Amino acid sequence: MPVAIRAEHLRKVYPHSPAGVAALEDLSLEVPTGRVYGLIGRNGAGKTTFVRVCATQLTLSGGTVSVLGHDLEREERAIRARIACIPQESRPLYFLTVEEVVYLYLKMRGIDRTEARRRTRDALEELSLTEYRRRMVSRLSGGLRRRTLCAMVLASDADLLFLDEPTTGLDPIARRQVWEAIRRTSREHRTIVLTTHYLDEAESLSARLALIERGRLVLEGTPADLRARVRYPYRVTIQGAFPRAELESYGRVAEIEGGLLLFTREAEAREVARKALERNVRLSMGPVSLEDIFLEVVGRSIEEETPREEAEA
Ligand SMILES: Nc1ncnc2c1ncn2[C@@H]1O[C@H](COP(=O)(O)OP(=O)(O)OP(=O)(O)O)[C@@H](O)[C@H]1O
Ligand SMILES: [Mg+2]
Repeated sequence: MPVAIRAEHLRKVYPHSPAGVAALEDLSLEVPTGRVYGLIGRNGAGKTTFVRVCATQLTLSGGTVSVLGHDLEREERAIRARIACIPQESRPLYFLTVEEVVYLYLKMRGIDRTEARRRTRDALEELSLTEYRRRMVSRLSGGLRRRTLCAMVLASDADLLFLDEPTTGLDPIARRQVWEAIRRTSREHRTIVLTTHYLDEAESLSARLALIERGRLVLEGTPADLRARVRYPYRVTIQGAFPRAELESYGRVAEIEGGLLLFTREAEAREVARKALERNVRLSMGPVSLEDIFLEVVGRSIEEETPREEAEA
């Protein structure tokens, strides 16, 4: 499969960062063309840094990247012409209307007038912004501004889109409209790098996912690959009397509202289900969510890296 981004051994140390702490540390990954690639990880993990490097906004301290077949260091201009980006924190220009912002952005990208008009109309429609089209951006709510940015970028003809938390602050209906627009863009064989803290969103949109922690790649693959790599790929919810100690022999147990939650393997999940049935205890089971995987993998990495004295403090 052709590759949209090939990043090898990336290292980024920001100027003045304390004790030369790297925001990216030996990060290598490949983003396939024509799909949605999800970037997940805790605050400060390095997701935005990665996006900004690939979008030619930051220089690297080490490593190499090729974007759409162009070398990042030597062919910055060629890359810029073919990408579009929603930065994590940004606002569209205040003194224009919603319609003007989208239209002028497309014109700036070299799209002709008729096509830019058509794309503007479709994008506003797609994100339910038509009724606000003559409104000044400065008078919009925060979520509507974010939606306007999404419309701009998703209406573009860029081959590679970087969406850094596009749906943060959007209401549930607007979020779903952005998801649909993302899916539509990916059906057009364009590539999307999507950063999000909504793991349901990451999972439902992304063909592949990268979990970044402290500037390093800790897990990468399709959602199914990620499940196959965790210790306990099943989650079992038990509501009723089931001794916790007994459950603990099957895996990891946590307390939840009105019952217990068990993370375990498939055979053990079946065994527990059989016992619950015999004892008339309510139970539901299924594969772990991406959020469970995140908590397990990142939780373990925090435990491993926290010095003992600090952990005990
Ligand atoms: N302009 C900057 N100058 C110095 N350090 C920075 C700068 N931007 C980010 N950092 C540091 O780099 C690291 C990675 O930050 P980054 O913004 O890439 O994380 P992130 O994964 O996008 O986090 P979030 O989920 O909070 O957006 C953090 O330790 C952060 O403090
Ligand atoms: Mg970020």
